[in-house]
Amino acid sequence: MIELNYQSIKPEIIGNENGLNIEKEFENYKDSIHKIIADLNSNKDKPGHKLQWMNLGYNEETIWYVKEYAAMVENRFENILILGLGGSELGGKAVCEALLPPYWNFLSKEQRNNYPRIFFLDNIDPDQMNSILKMLDLKKTLVNVITKSGSTAEVMAQYMIIKDMMEKQLGEDYRKNIIATTDKNIGILKQLADQEGYKTFYIPDDIEGRFSVFSAVGLLPFALVGIDIEEITQGIKDMDLALKNTDINYNIAAQNALIHYLMDTKLGKKISVMMPYSNRLRYIADWYCQLWAESLGKERDNNNNIVNTGQTPVKAIGVTDQHSQIQLYNEGPNDKIITFLRVKEFDTTLEIPNIFEYTGISYLGGKTMNQLIQAEADSTLASLIDYKRPSVTISIPKVTPYYLGQLLYMFEVQTAITGALHNIDAFNQPGVEQSKNYTYALLDRVGYEDSAKELKEKLLIK
Ligand code: PA5
Repeated sequence: MIELNYQSIKPEIIGNENGLNIEKEFENYKDSIHKIIADLNSNKDKPGHKLQWMNLGYNEETIWYVKEYAAMVENRFENILILGLGGSELGGKAVCEALLPPYWNFLSKEQRNNYPRIFFLDNIDPDQMNSILKMLDLKKTLVNVITKSGSTAEVMAQYMIIKDMMEKQLGEDYRKNIIATTDKNIGILKQLADQEGYKTFYIPDDIEGRFSVFSAVGLLPFALVGIDIEEITQGIKDMDLALKNTDINYNIAAQNALIHYLMDTKLGKKISVMMPYSNRLRYIADWYCQLWAESLGKERDNNNNIVNTGQTPVKAIGVTDQHSQIQLYNEGPNDKIITFLRVKEFDTTLEIPNIFEYTGISYLGGKTMNQLIQAEADSTLASLIDYKRPSVTISIPKVTPYYLGQLLYMFEVQTAITGALHNIDAFNQPGVEQSKNYTYALLDRVGYEDSAKELKEKLLIK
């Protein structure tokens, strides 16, 4: 199992002012945590609680459909192009980047075992889009349009451009090159998919985008590039079993949730830094940032009081950001808790040759890159301790589908528990919806006329 180490938040390590007497806090919050975990598990099947993500590890039907389709299109496409934003994209990208060999899209077909390259179009920059469309042979590209609401302006605009190009280039056959992943009942994409006859995968009800990575949103792209999705779901199931334990002393998601909650509310650590010491996990940090920000950043609590909750999540990459952000973390405001994400065993052991006798670098010869990266993580931790900065370490035995399933599910549960500790709804996103609606108004969508008028006055647009 993955492990959580919280030694470096203890007062005896970083002092009373910044440390937490964690055993005492576990005792203080024992009953609340017990209730939160029991409630999560007893409400997960109830409509409206938005907890269906807790069942995704057990969704045999989706796994079957996804595998069946992936087998059907095997060897048919050179490229997979994912259109999606936020929760419809970040998890898929994070897991693919972690589990596929680095630089996957640059490898030859043989090196990729005949699996396709995969691209995530996560923005609407016209230059970026133009470039990718020029680069990809659309005849050999499978486009997966992912949008839960079925109407997000950015994704629908991307889709409209590509659909038009594909139809012109492929004729009637273009329909075989587009699939849709969306809500079963609502949204324009669902209507279009039915009308056009696209193969469609559904995102179950009661799951918000940022919790949807283990639905077809993520599982389908993973299966298309040959990632073992059953290994992933096994990891989720094993972690789910462990996290059903309502005793905080044995539940790492609850422990990390409470640590972050107290660091934020008691000790003023308003920033949560996610720092993987593995390049393959760099986009897991992006996924975490969305999960943490969108779930916990709330204006009001469940009793409608104004609370403005939420730590600001920040991504930092070990070792890269030791040479950029660590100066601030060590000596700037003591307002952060750092999470080290460490991998015990890398797939590769890379030796540094003993080729120079200069004392400044000869110590490196004969060591491995693996030793170097572990030493760098230890040093960063030690320097943070010197400066009395709190941190926790999450260790993953290896970057495999099984442990990634565990890790991401653990973060989801941790987020849900933190939301409950704040007494907020971790599963809505009114702030995101607000700006989506403003975009519709500014671009003259029917039904948004009043809002458009108001907005144009506010932004001084003629
Ligand atoms: O977590 C969320 O709900 C959001 O980040 C959405 O995933 C994002 O806004 C995209 O929405 P949709 O999938 O409806 O296009």
